[in-house]
Amino acid sequence: MPLRVIVGVAGGIAAYKAVSVVREFVRRGHHVTVIPTGSALKFVGLPTWEAISRNPVPTDLFEGVAEVRHVALGQQANLIVVCPATAHTLASIAGGFAGDLLGTTLLAATAPLVLAPAMHTEMWENPAVQANVETLRQRGVLFVGPDSGPLTGDDSGVGRMSEPETIVNFALSSLTPQSLEGKRVLISAGGTREPLDPVRYLGNRSSGAMGVALAEAARLRGAHVTLVHSHVEVPLPHGVDTVAVSTAQDMLAAMAAAQPTHDIILMAAAVADWRARTLSPQKLRKADQPEYWTPELERTPDILAQLGETKTTGQLLVGFAAETDGDASQRESNARMKLKAKKSDALVLNLVGDQVGFGEVETAVTLITASPQSLTFEGTKSSVAGRLLDALPEL
Ligand code: CTP
Repeated sequence: MPLRVIVGVAGGIAAYKAVSVVREFVRRGHHVTVIPTGSALKFVGLPTWEAISRNPVPTDLFEGVAEVRHVALGQQANLIVVCPATAHTLASIAGGFAGDLLGTTLLAATAPLVLAPAMHTEMWENPAVQANVETLRQRGVLFVGPDSGPLTGDDSGVGRMSEPETIVNFALSSLTPQSLEGKRVLISAGGTREPLDPVRYLGNRSSGAMGVALAEAARLRGAHVTLVHSHVEVPLPHGVDTVAVSTAQDMLAAMAAAQPTHDIILMAAAVADWRARTLSPQKLRKADQPEYWTPELERTPDILAQLGETKTTGQLLVGFAAETDGDASQRESNARMKLKAKKSDALVLNLVGDQVGFGEVETAVTLITASPQSLTFEGTKSSVAGRLLDALPEL
């Protein structure tokens, strides 16, 4: 579900990194209102905040008075993040100051408040700052960072603002029930490539977006996630263990090695079904081939089926079936056959074709289990991934 997120930005050099925080919330489908302080606008200008958040940016207490904006924004928010939270802003929030729009908004809000501090080490360690941090923590305010690393000048130490993805993940997980806490989730994503010669391969159009969305959603729910990825075209999530592979054989080796230490296995990768029977060590030349030519192919290993054979009691194995043909009931009965044949606990069926399924952000999937009932989820890959994971405990 899209959230109403307020990103408060205080006047520190790390304001430039807050742009990526806003972008990441928007990318995940949330509605963002940026409230920069006057000094934040000296670091990053209004057009940048408006363009990246795709929303008007209020800056003044005396704008939008008729809508009682100085409190309305806070009252409507589901989540508030202040990044960077400077020493001055920490003091203002701890003191309950209401001299600007960010101050009044925070006082009127009941949503979780996440602060990402950024300042020089000496400032962060100053007893005045630490006392404010302590006061805020006791009131239930959440802190992400600061990290240790290079600071603005030549110095380095504690005080660096956390990375944008870390801030977004932390903030969102503060709202997400930790339903997978203590669980280890193994996910495959992307499409394998099976080489024909040193420069050519057989592949498919999978972008890996679904597997990556599942990894993000599982991490947000408190799981430890291992992502085995092949040729994924979207950015890999932070905070998960990653293993890069290329062919079906590599993916089988990585998944089989990780299987014994994981509780839930989601096989979202599009694995090539065939590979060249013999791999040409040199580039195949046109002149050496006839006009019509058939490379000799052999089956790749069926990874899901092999994981189904070695599955242990209590381990949950979920396959993903991409179907392009037939009507809905035909697709569902194909999927039910695959579920049985591959000894999986569930199968996620999705329709793919020229225009849908691959890479697209919107998707529709049907979750099939041994029970005759099935569940259908529609929406962005990220919301569908979350709802699929929330349905797993039922299994
Ligand atoms: N799968 C696998 N190894 C393969 C082929 C598929 O692990 N060599 C997995 C996929 O990752 C997916 C599930 O099996 O989780 C179903 O994939 P799909 O391509 O729909 O099924 P196939 O068995 O390849 O059947 P077909 O392509 O003929 O429909």
